[in-house]
Amino acid sequence: KFENLAQTPPLGWNSWNTFGTDINEQLVKDIADKFIKLGLKDAGYQYIVLDDGWMAKERDENGNLVADPEKFPNGMKHLADYIHSKGLKFGLYNCAGSQTCAGYPGSRGHEYQDARSYASWDVDYLKYDWCNTGKINAESAYTTMRDALYAAGRPIVFSICEWGDNEPWKWAKDIGHLWRVTGDIINCWDCEVGHGSWQSSGVWKIINMRKDVRKVAGPGHWNDYDMMEVGNGMTDAEDRSHFAMWNMLASPLIMGNDLRTAPKETIKTLTNTEVIAVNQDKLGIQGFRFTNENNMEIWLKPLDNNEWAMTFVNMSNHPIDFVFDWTKHGIGDDVNGKWLDVKNNIFKIRDVFNHKNLGDTSKELKANIGAHDVVMIKLEIL
Ligand code: GLA
Repeated sequence: KFENLAQTPPLGWNSWNTFGTDINEQLVKDIADKFIKLGLKDAGYQYIVLDDGWMAKERDENGNLVADPEKFPNGMKHLADYIHSKGLKFGLYNCAGSQTCAGYPGSRGHEYQDARSYASWDVDYLKYDWCNTGKINAESAYTTMRDALYAAGRPIVFSICEWGDNEPWKWAKDIGHLWRVTGDIINCWDCEVGHGSWQSSGVWKIINMRKDVRKVAGPGHWNDYDMMEVGNGMTDAEDRSHFAMWNMLASPLIMGNDLRTAPKETIKTLTNTEVIAVNQDKLGIQGFRFTNENNMEIWLKPLDNNEWAMTFVNMSNHPIDFVFDWTKHGIGDDVNGKWLDVKNNIFKIRDVFNHKNLGDTSKELKANIGAHDVVMIKLEIL
């Protein structure tokens, strides 16, 4: 694969969560414009990815993929040029099977040809799905597409969307830059809709679905917890917690809301650069759960310079007065051999969500946390 891409988790927007296959050129241009106007580009968001539904239902007479002529009358290169002219990057979707999940032409048997099309349109990112794959082997199907992209010669971030059934965290590290670990996300806190391969899961169901995947994450190869549902119907507090968690998990931060109509509070959450800095930390260590007792989820993420991010999420339906006594805990990440040594060091506490200093670890941390809301802090040695 192309090394030195996605050295930190990719940031961007994808059309699927809000628009499904109902996408078109004007919509995508409007989204690109909003990246600039709303400060999303300045906050680090880069990729604009068209999900399923961008293609015509049939390949052309030479077997080439073509953009749907009604939705995208000027084709994909035109759209790529527009997005690039804003200093942003362009992504497309296809699928390892004979058809995509929504029934458009899949890449099976056309991998090299399709990769050449993407390169000729100046595509920067490919999301590659797993519908209609029959009995093919996942690792080799993704390897074929990786090799095809490599042969086409344009550096393209390769996003593996296999939902975790074939445990991609065990084999995808040298194939893709990110891989989905679960089925599809849905815009709720902890619900489940459908079942089996067609189950969609709320934020906390997704977070809790896989154990032992964090050790595989790192620069150039990330666990993808799916496109975000921030701004898609949860409360502002739930959106903040969801966003905090995707940052703690070093997940790609791919927005999935309608940026044309997004309220101020949603944009404020999505553009919080102190929070995003936790996701983009150069060590690329995925965070882990410390405890989840008494309705409080407590997560940690080791950062560069012996700093740590720490996140407290109130899982209850009422506010909680919360006290954390540093002297009572031994905090360590044994996978990465990192210890948060509050006995021999005093750490300054920075509230990264609200851009405030909260004293230091020589005293207990006290906070009032609203229902489903979050306190996210960074600890720096004084
Ligand atoms: C699958 C993927 C989704 C989306 C749809 C498109 O369900 O997991 O993210 O790409 O297909 O049809």
